Amino acid sequence: MDSLDLVSPYLYRYKNVNLLVKDKMRPKDLDALLDAEIRPTDIFLVAYPKSGTIWMQQILVQIIGAAHPDWVEDVTNRTHIPMLEIRFLCDPFRPRPDPRVFRSHLRPGMLPNGVKNKQVKVVYVWRNPKDVLVSLFHFSHSFVMLETPESFDIFFQQFLDGDVFMGSWFDHLKDYCEAQDQLNIHFVQYENMLKDLRQEVVKLCAFLGADLTDEVIDHIVEKSTFRNMKTDPKANYKDIFETNYYTEPTMRKGIAGDWKNHFTVAQNEHFDKVFKEKMGNFPLTCTWEVKQ
Ligand code: A3P
Repeated sequence: MDSLDLVSPYLYRYKNVNLLVKDKMRPKDLDALLDAEIRPTDIFLVAYPKSGTIWMQQILVQIIGAAHPDWVEDVTNRTHIPMLEIRFLCDPFRPRPDPRVFRSHLRPGMLPNGVKNKQVKVVYVWRNPKDVLVSLFHFSHSFVMLETPESFDIFFQQFLDGDVFMGSWFDHLKDYCEAQDQLNIHFVQYENMLKDLRQEVVKLCAFLGADLTDEVIDHIVEKSTFRNMKTDPKANYKDIFETNYYTEPTMRKGIAGDWKNHFTVAQNEHFDKVFKEKMGNFPLTCTWEVKQ
């Protein structure tokens, strides 16, 4: 194996991002991504892990499919909108119709240079980090390419230290906020989707230039509810579950505030302190809970 900067037997660090040892991608492949051929019509869906990526994937498949009926292929969402930097299941550069949509957890500096010309649209989904931590904790039990956490306590500290899949949540958010002047980027907050999915879909359509009727928008919203995605075989990653890469369904709870069922009072206080230290000067308001 190439000499990798191992964080654990499961993760290696490259440019402050923690990638999967068991996947094919190596530093030279990540560097090669910078020169990847990018088309002005390409769209990038970017999120820190467990922030609502597959939710946005479903919404984008529906919006783009409605705006470009020839675009729709009879494949699952994860093939329709493949991952840029994880290759064990799908090649994102396989021939496919425009607009190509890529999914990524990478930092802005690691995306293909062509994304930074402000033509290419970037949709960035973010979620309050306490729920991200909890979701990633459960996902780390499920995804066989990640180490099963020894305990919630240990995982909690690893998350704060950025020693988890894809590195620090704090740096991810900061990097994308700071890259706003180089990117044509639309920020979407997971909790806002929970509060008013229709409104977020309408804003997204405006960003993407998709002129859809009210009926079509209603249909997209309906197709993208947690309840419907859970049973939609194109959206719910059941096939990947069946290939034994995941041991638990990825559509877990889909709520805001689940951290309250996991954090102790002391952990919560510690989290708030670290959050303030790292994000104190940042113009960012997290929504920690949404009453359903
Ligand atoms: P939980 O583990 O908290 O349930 P990602 O796609 O980035 O990996 O994020 C996964 C998280 O998004 C999971 O969170 C999953 O349940 C949630 N999610 C996926 N689809 C959703 C939907 N339609 N509504 C609400 N949450 C959704």
